[in-house]
Amino acid sequence: MNIDRRTAVVTGGATGIGESITMKFCSEGYNVIVADLNKKRGKQISQTSSKQSGNIIFCETDVTEQKSIKHLLDFSISNFENINILINNAGVAGAKGWENESVSREEDWKASWEVNILGLINVTNEFLPELQKNSGSRIVNIASVSGRQGRPSLPHYSSTKAAVINFTKSLHKRLENSDISVNAVCPGLIWTPMWEQVGLRYSNTQEKYKGFEAREVFDDMVKENIPLRRETSLQDVANLVFFLVSLDSSSFSGQAINVDGGFFLN
Ligand SMILES: NC(=O)c1ccc[n+]([C@@H]2O[C@H](COP(=O)([O-])OP(=O)(O)OC[C@H]3O[C@@H](n4cnc5c(N)ncnc54)[C@H](O)[C@@H]3O)[C@@H](O)[C@H]2O)c1
Repeated sequence: MNIDRRTAVVTGGATGIGESITMKFCSEGYNVIVADLNKKRGKQISQTSSKQSGNIIFCETDVTEQKSIKHLLDFSISNFENINILINNAGVAGAKGWENESVSREEDWKASWEVNILGLINVTNEFLPELQKNSGSRIVNIASVSGRQGRPSLPHYSSTKAAVINFTKSLHKRLENSDISVNAVCPGLIWTPMWEQVGLRYSNTQEKYKGFEAREVFDDMVKENIPLRRETSLQDVANLVFFLVSLDSSSFSGQAINVDGGFFLN
């Protein structure tokens, strides 16, 4: 393990957007701790680091459990001496079975608030003292353009993302005079395991998409909503996050930046 490199903790780093952030950081020579519930994918991804790149290690983590978050911090410090990047990416779009429902159930509100915002806040608070010890530390919170716009079909989810944007701004102000920047990234439509479930929800519950495959729903939405008429890729998101954690981004803090092909205009 190289303890002198920049070291990042990526929650939800085993699949989708988190995985692409993990791979980007690793290819740039960073150490990455993947903190995820998904043991199988987490273990697979930790076997991909090579001599030329950084190191990836997996720590099974549930961001809704304080004990698990404490374990993640201890595990991170025991493997690498300088944790200077935290990516709060873990997220859910509802409780089990949400993709079959046309309305938000109480359990969907609870599950998405517990993971997407309470989990994010608890992980941040646990890691802040460690981040404050190391120079040039960075926090990036993965929000969503849905947090700016609202989503009539997923209000339980989009409201958590509005809270993530707002929390980012409060934290930025709280960290005044420190060497830590904190920003939010707002992806638009990104094809991931989560979006596949969103597509199922639309085809299961909306007349317009009856009989559509999840991917067909996604393609139709990209065509209808994205002015650049191209799908925003996982790499587009990872590249923005990488810029925000690099030392080149020193003047950015308290921002929420869209990566969405022009889907939403600030
Ligand atoms: N896909 C999109 O279009 C899109 C758009 C905007 C924002 N986002 C956000 O990006 C982030 C990643 O989403 P994705 O689309 O890659 O979804 P995904 O389902 O592929 O990945 C989410 C990851 O979070 C992990 N996770 C879930 N609950 C957890 C918990 N309690 N503790 C630890 N890990 C947990 C999952 O195991 C999974 O690996 C989420 O915050 C999501 O809300 C996604």
